[in-house]
Order: sequence, then structure tokens, then C-alpha cells
Amino acid sequence: MTLTVQTLTLGTPLSPSALRVMLLGSGELGKEVLIALQRLGVETLAVDRYDNAPGQQVAHHSRTITMSDPAQLRALIEAEKPDLVVPEIEAIATSVLEEMEAEGRVRVIPTARAARLTMDREGIRRLAAETLGLPTSPYRFCDSLAELQAAIDAGIGYPCVVKPVMSSSGKGQSKIDGPADVQKAWEHAMAGGRVSHGRVIVEGFIDFDYEITLLTVRAAGRGAQLGEVATHFCDPIGHKQVSGDYVESWQPQPMHPEALRLSREIAQAVTDNLGGQGLFGVELFVKGEQVWFSEVSPRPHDTGLVTLGTQVQSEFELHARAILGLPVDTRLRTPGASAVIYGGVDAQDVVFEGVAEALSEPGTDIRLFGKPESFVKRRMGVAVTTDADIDSARAKARRAAAQVRVRPRG
Ligand SMILES: Nc1ncnc2c1ncn2[C@@H]1O[C@H](COP(=O)(O)OP(=O)(O)OP(=O)(O)O)[C@@H](O)[C@H]1O
Ligand SMILES: [Mg+2]
Repeated sequence: MTLTVQTLTLGTPLSPSALRVMLLGSGELGKEVLIALQRLGVETLAVDRYDNAPGQQVAHHSRTITMSDPAQLRALIEAEKPDLVVPEIEAIATSVLEEMEAEGRVRVIPTARAARLTMDREGIRRLAAETLGLPTSPYRFCDSLAELQAAIDAGIGYPCVVKPVMSSSGKGQSKIDGPADVQKAWEHAMAGGRVSHGRVIVEGFIDFDYEITLLTVRAAGRGAQLGEVATHFCDPIGHKQVSGDYVESWQPQPMHPEALRLSREIAQAVTDNLGGQGLFGVELFVKGEQVWFSEVSPRPHDTGLVTLGTQVQSEFELHARAILGLPVDTRLRTPGASAVIYGGVDAQDVVFEGVAEALSEPGTDIRLFGKPESFVKRRMGVAVTTDADIDSARAKARRAAAQVRVRPRG
């Protein structure tokens, strides 16, 4: 089935011809999407839950609301009437997006349904495993400690992983190695979820060789297919997670050809179903030639920050082009890596030391996100490096990130 690309007319910001895009969530990933849109003359409105969020600092307009509050979200979209609404985080009142999309009052990227299905682990897991029949870890959803124990005993077994259905960046997530860990994992999940209704997913632990993010872009086709939606793949990104949070990524991750073929097949199936236009981060576990689907972001992925250095067009530029209906170029330029710069300190109004030293090695770049407040485990910046091979690039990224120190001012 061929789908027609919706190509929007680019105009002049801050004038009646402007093409206006609203970003829901304006952190470090949103900031780069906003910059990519700005370069194409799009008028941008950055929304976040707190003032001076990274993306708000580079957008034409900014608003601070509680995006999970249906009334606030509806009122803002009705008042601003953007041409596109681009969700950049999961914690959004997606019911409002679905209602307004159904009323024909807004276009949501990639679709309101994709935003709803991926906002919690249950929607996307049931779609992938039960509707599409894709390989995933064995899983059960549980609403109490007793149900969790029963699910493990009935077949999930040990080791396994428990996660709140509503959480991201590893919050509330833990691995259970044996019966003694079950209660602790349940309590950790209850404390770490986004909402308090207390539902978790328990997954069998996959002993993978490595995990990847396969950036998959639904955008205009090439040549004669310019008017149709086509699927484009980036080279696989390998990454390392600590406590469910990404600390390092690199591209290209070497893969067995069969594992790459399966990965693309899985990514195609999921993104075809979610539909619309835009970039998706498909997370996959790989062991030899075997591949498991883990989850998907219908938007740029944190591990894809590496593409700021490695690709002809970064994942943020790809997303901007895809949503506007423009052709994309997903080619790799060079191997490279990224390493996260954590706050390491709880403080506001911080300063950064060691940046010049970090940048002194050729092929090193640094992004500081401009977050108004640092926390010990908050991502404050990233080092992005390029080199002849991924091992050299990874070592260089770790060195650069380690040079940068976040300090309270004064
Ligand atoms: N079933 C599993 N088996 C083995 N490892 C797992 C499993 N589930 C999760 N992990 C590990 O934990 C990491 C985080 O899990 P997941 O992506 O589900 O959580 P998340 O909170 O959405 O993280 P993020 O927001 O950073 O993507 C995975 O990238 C993987 O390294
Ligand atoms: Mg993940």
C-alpha cells in the first residue's frame, strides 16, 4: 500500500505565511529538533513543564504547562493552532491529542495513536508481541506484589526485570536474580513510576550479546517515489546502559548480516503499524543471529545523539525533514561515539570546567544542554567524537566527557 507524503509549505517565521510547529517537551533532544526546524525557516513554539528548558532557549516562543493535564494541553493547542504538534516526551495527555486529531483540528507527529501506544510499556508491548507477532522477551503485567511473584513462578523465572509501565530512563527499574529480590524490586518500581496506580511489567532477562537502536525514518521517497512515504534506515547504533540509562553510544555497531536483516524487518513492521511521518528509535536486543524487539520511541532517541557527529544528517535533521514531508539522507559519514556528561552535583546556575581540554583532541565535539538545574544523575551534556573506528571513537568520547566537570558557581 502506498501512502501519499504530506508535504508542508515552508514560509517566513513571525509572519502570516509562517509554518508553525509546537514541540511538547523541550529537553536536549527537543532543542536539536527545534534548531533543525529553525534552519528551514519554521516558526517554533517550545513547551515544557519548567521555565528555560533547553529547547525553550532556542525557540521563537515558549510556554510552560503541565503537559499531562488534558485541560491545559487542549487549551494551549486551541489557542496556538500550530500546523504540527510534535511530542518529544512520553508523559503527555495523549487522549487530548487523539481527540483533537479525530476532530481534524491538529496533526500529531507521527500520529496521536503512536504517541498513546508508546506512552506506556503495555500499549507498545502488546502491539509488538500480540498484534504483530514480533519476538520479545517473555512478559506479564502485574498490579500487586502477589501477582508479580505469581507471574515469576508461573514461567517468567529468574533472572527477570521489573519496570513500572509508566516510566523512562530506567526509573523504578530493577533486575531480580532470585526470590529474595522480589519485594525490593516491587517497592523500587512503586517509588519510580510516573503515576501511582502501581502497574508493572515483568520481563524475562535476555542475555543479549549487544543492544542497538535502529533509527528508522518514515519520510518522502526518492526519485519517482518523492510523493510517497518510504522507510529509510540509519546504520545501527550500539549503546551501553547503566541502571536503565544510556551512558555511551556508537555507530555503526557491527552486526551479523542476518541479525541486521531481522532488525530491519522488525523495525519496518512496528513503524508501518504506528504510521505517519517522522523518525523512530527502535530498540532491539541481539544475540548472534537472533533479535528481540524491546521498545520504540516515535521520535529521536537519546542514544542517537551520536548522529550529530556520524551522519550526513543527524537524527534531529532527519526528523525535521520527515515531518515536513521532505526527502532525507540517512547515510553514515564516519564512525563515531557519544558519552554522557552527568551533573555529578545537585545545584542551580552551574559552570562547566575542562571544556577546552576536552575539545583539544581532534574529532571531538561537546554539547552543553543549558539545563537550569543540575542533579547528580542528570544528563547535562554529551561528548560526540569521530574516529577511524568505533573503539577509538568510544575511548575518545569517554576521555572528553570525563574532562568536563560541573561545578556550582563561585
Ligand atoms: N528483558 C530484558 N533483558 C535484558 N536487559 C533488559 C531487559 N529489559 C531492559 N533491559 C536493559 O535495560 C535497559 C532499559 O530498559 P528499557 O529500554 O525498557 O527502559 P527505559 O526506562 O525505557 O529506558 P530508556 O528510557 O533509557 O530507553 C535496556 O536498554 C537494556 O539494557
Ligand atoms: Mg529503552
